[in-house]
Amino acid sequence: MATLNSNYLKLKAGYLFPEIARRVKAFTEANPTASARMIRCGIGDVTEPLPLAVRAAMHAAIDEMGTREGFHGYGPEQGYEFLRTAIATNDYRNRGLDVADDEIFVSDGSKCDGGAILDILGDDNRIAVMDPVYPVYVDTNVMAGHTGEGREDGSYEGIIYLECSAENGFVPTVPEEKADIIYLCFPNNPTGSVASRTQLEEWVAYALKHGSILLYDAAYEAYISDPSVPRSIYEIPGARECAIEFRSFSKNGGFTGTRCAFTVVPKLVTARSADGERRPIHPLWHRRFTTKFNGVSYVTQRGAAALYSDQGKAEVASLVEHYIGNAKILREAASSCGLSVFGGENAPYIWVKGPEGVTSWQIFDRMLDEANIVVTPGSGFGRAGEGYFRISAFNSREKAIEAAARIKAMAW
Ligand code: MLT
Repeated sequence: MATLNSNYLKLKAGYLFPEIARRVKAFTEANPTASARMIRCGIGDVTEPLPLAVRAAMHAAIDEMGTREGFHGYGPEQGYEFLRTAIATNDYRNRGLDVADDEIFVSDGSKCDGGAILDILGDDNRIAVMDPVYPVYVDTNVMAGHTGEGREDGSYEGIIYLECSAENGFVPTVPEEKADIIYLCFPNNPTGSVASRTQLEEWVAYALKHGSILLYDAAYEAYISDPSVPRSIYEIPGARECAIEFRSFSKNGGFTGTRCAFTVVPKLVTARSADGERRPIHPLWHRRFTTKFNGVSYVTQRGAAALYSDQGKAEVASLVEHYIGNAKILREAASSCGLSVFGGENAPYIWVKGPEGVTSWQIFDRMLDEANIVVTPGSGFGRAGEGYFRISAFNSREKAIEAAARIKAMAW
């Protein structure tokens, strides 16, 4: 008889966002009038239309595809040169960072890349994650068999949890023990925290000392407005030897539905093979890509490249300004209720501590019931998120203002 991957049976709950959607659906079915009033500040999904520059480029690409000369079949799996060059030039080289075009791998999403990267890393690595954490980092390691059993509090044996709290500004310090693979996400999902240059220098020094690899998720980089905060891990000397960076067009260019992202794998990053030798991981990632992926569609990549045109850059800036404007409104609303509020300044997420003694899911239910607002319960991101909730700033201005008014009207 066929057997299954029993690691999947270790997974504690459904993936967080489908679980929230299930609860919201049950609520709206039971309360049809509340359903019309519902404001969704849960999943971080963009709401504003695709930039004009992107649409124009995609229309032109579609027309090109309709001609014999301009038709594109299979493209290069790792992305068309025009997009890889635009990324490496604009996001890195123009900022003084040394990244080659062929170190960029274009994909259909950072979530997919975050899971896929485990294919080329050993099963015996010690994994460290921030807590609270974007659940994909943990669940993909559970699925790959890199953890022990799940515990009651939702954590897993075998993973090193780096606790993030108001005390450490939601930025973990390097642990005493040795971790081989460390997931860092800045600006952070879910807490909205950012790491300073000094903090990232400590992490790079730790990784170089232990031969570890940093998996650096910079999907929200566009939201950094503080000039002292690094936008890329490669701003830190030594990071090209120990860090892989994940970036996405989802949250800057509005591509959550269009799907395009990229991973930077510097040729200097190495890991040890079973024979004890240090080998570069770039060829392995390249091999994986060309074997398991057929590339992002030509039309989508043309759309993504248009984000680097002058018009595209201006439109990205205005989208970011819009969502950060929402974040300010929502931050101030929660703060005016006497709640402790974090994030939302260099990130589109606001991380709020609920009233003492109230669990995250209780807050979720109350906000759904009383204000018809969907938020994300902090405990869904890990044990250290208990008692918190996350408000996403991805919304229309009108809905953000209305959500803020309802939050203020709640009896906290
Ligand atoms: C979130 O709400 O945390 C994000 O939408 C997750 C993601 O980008 O996959």
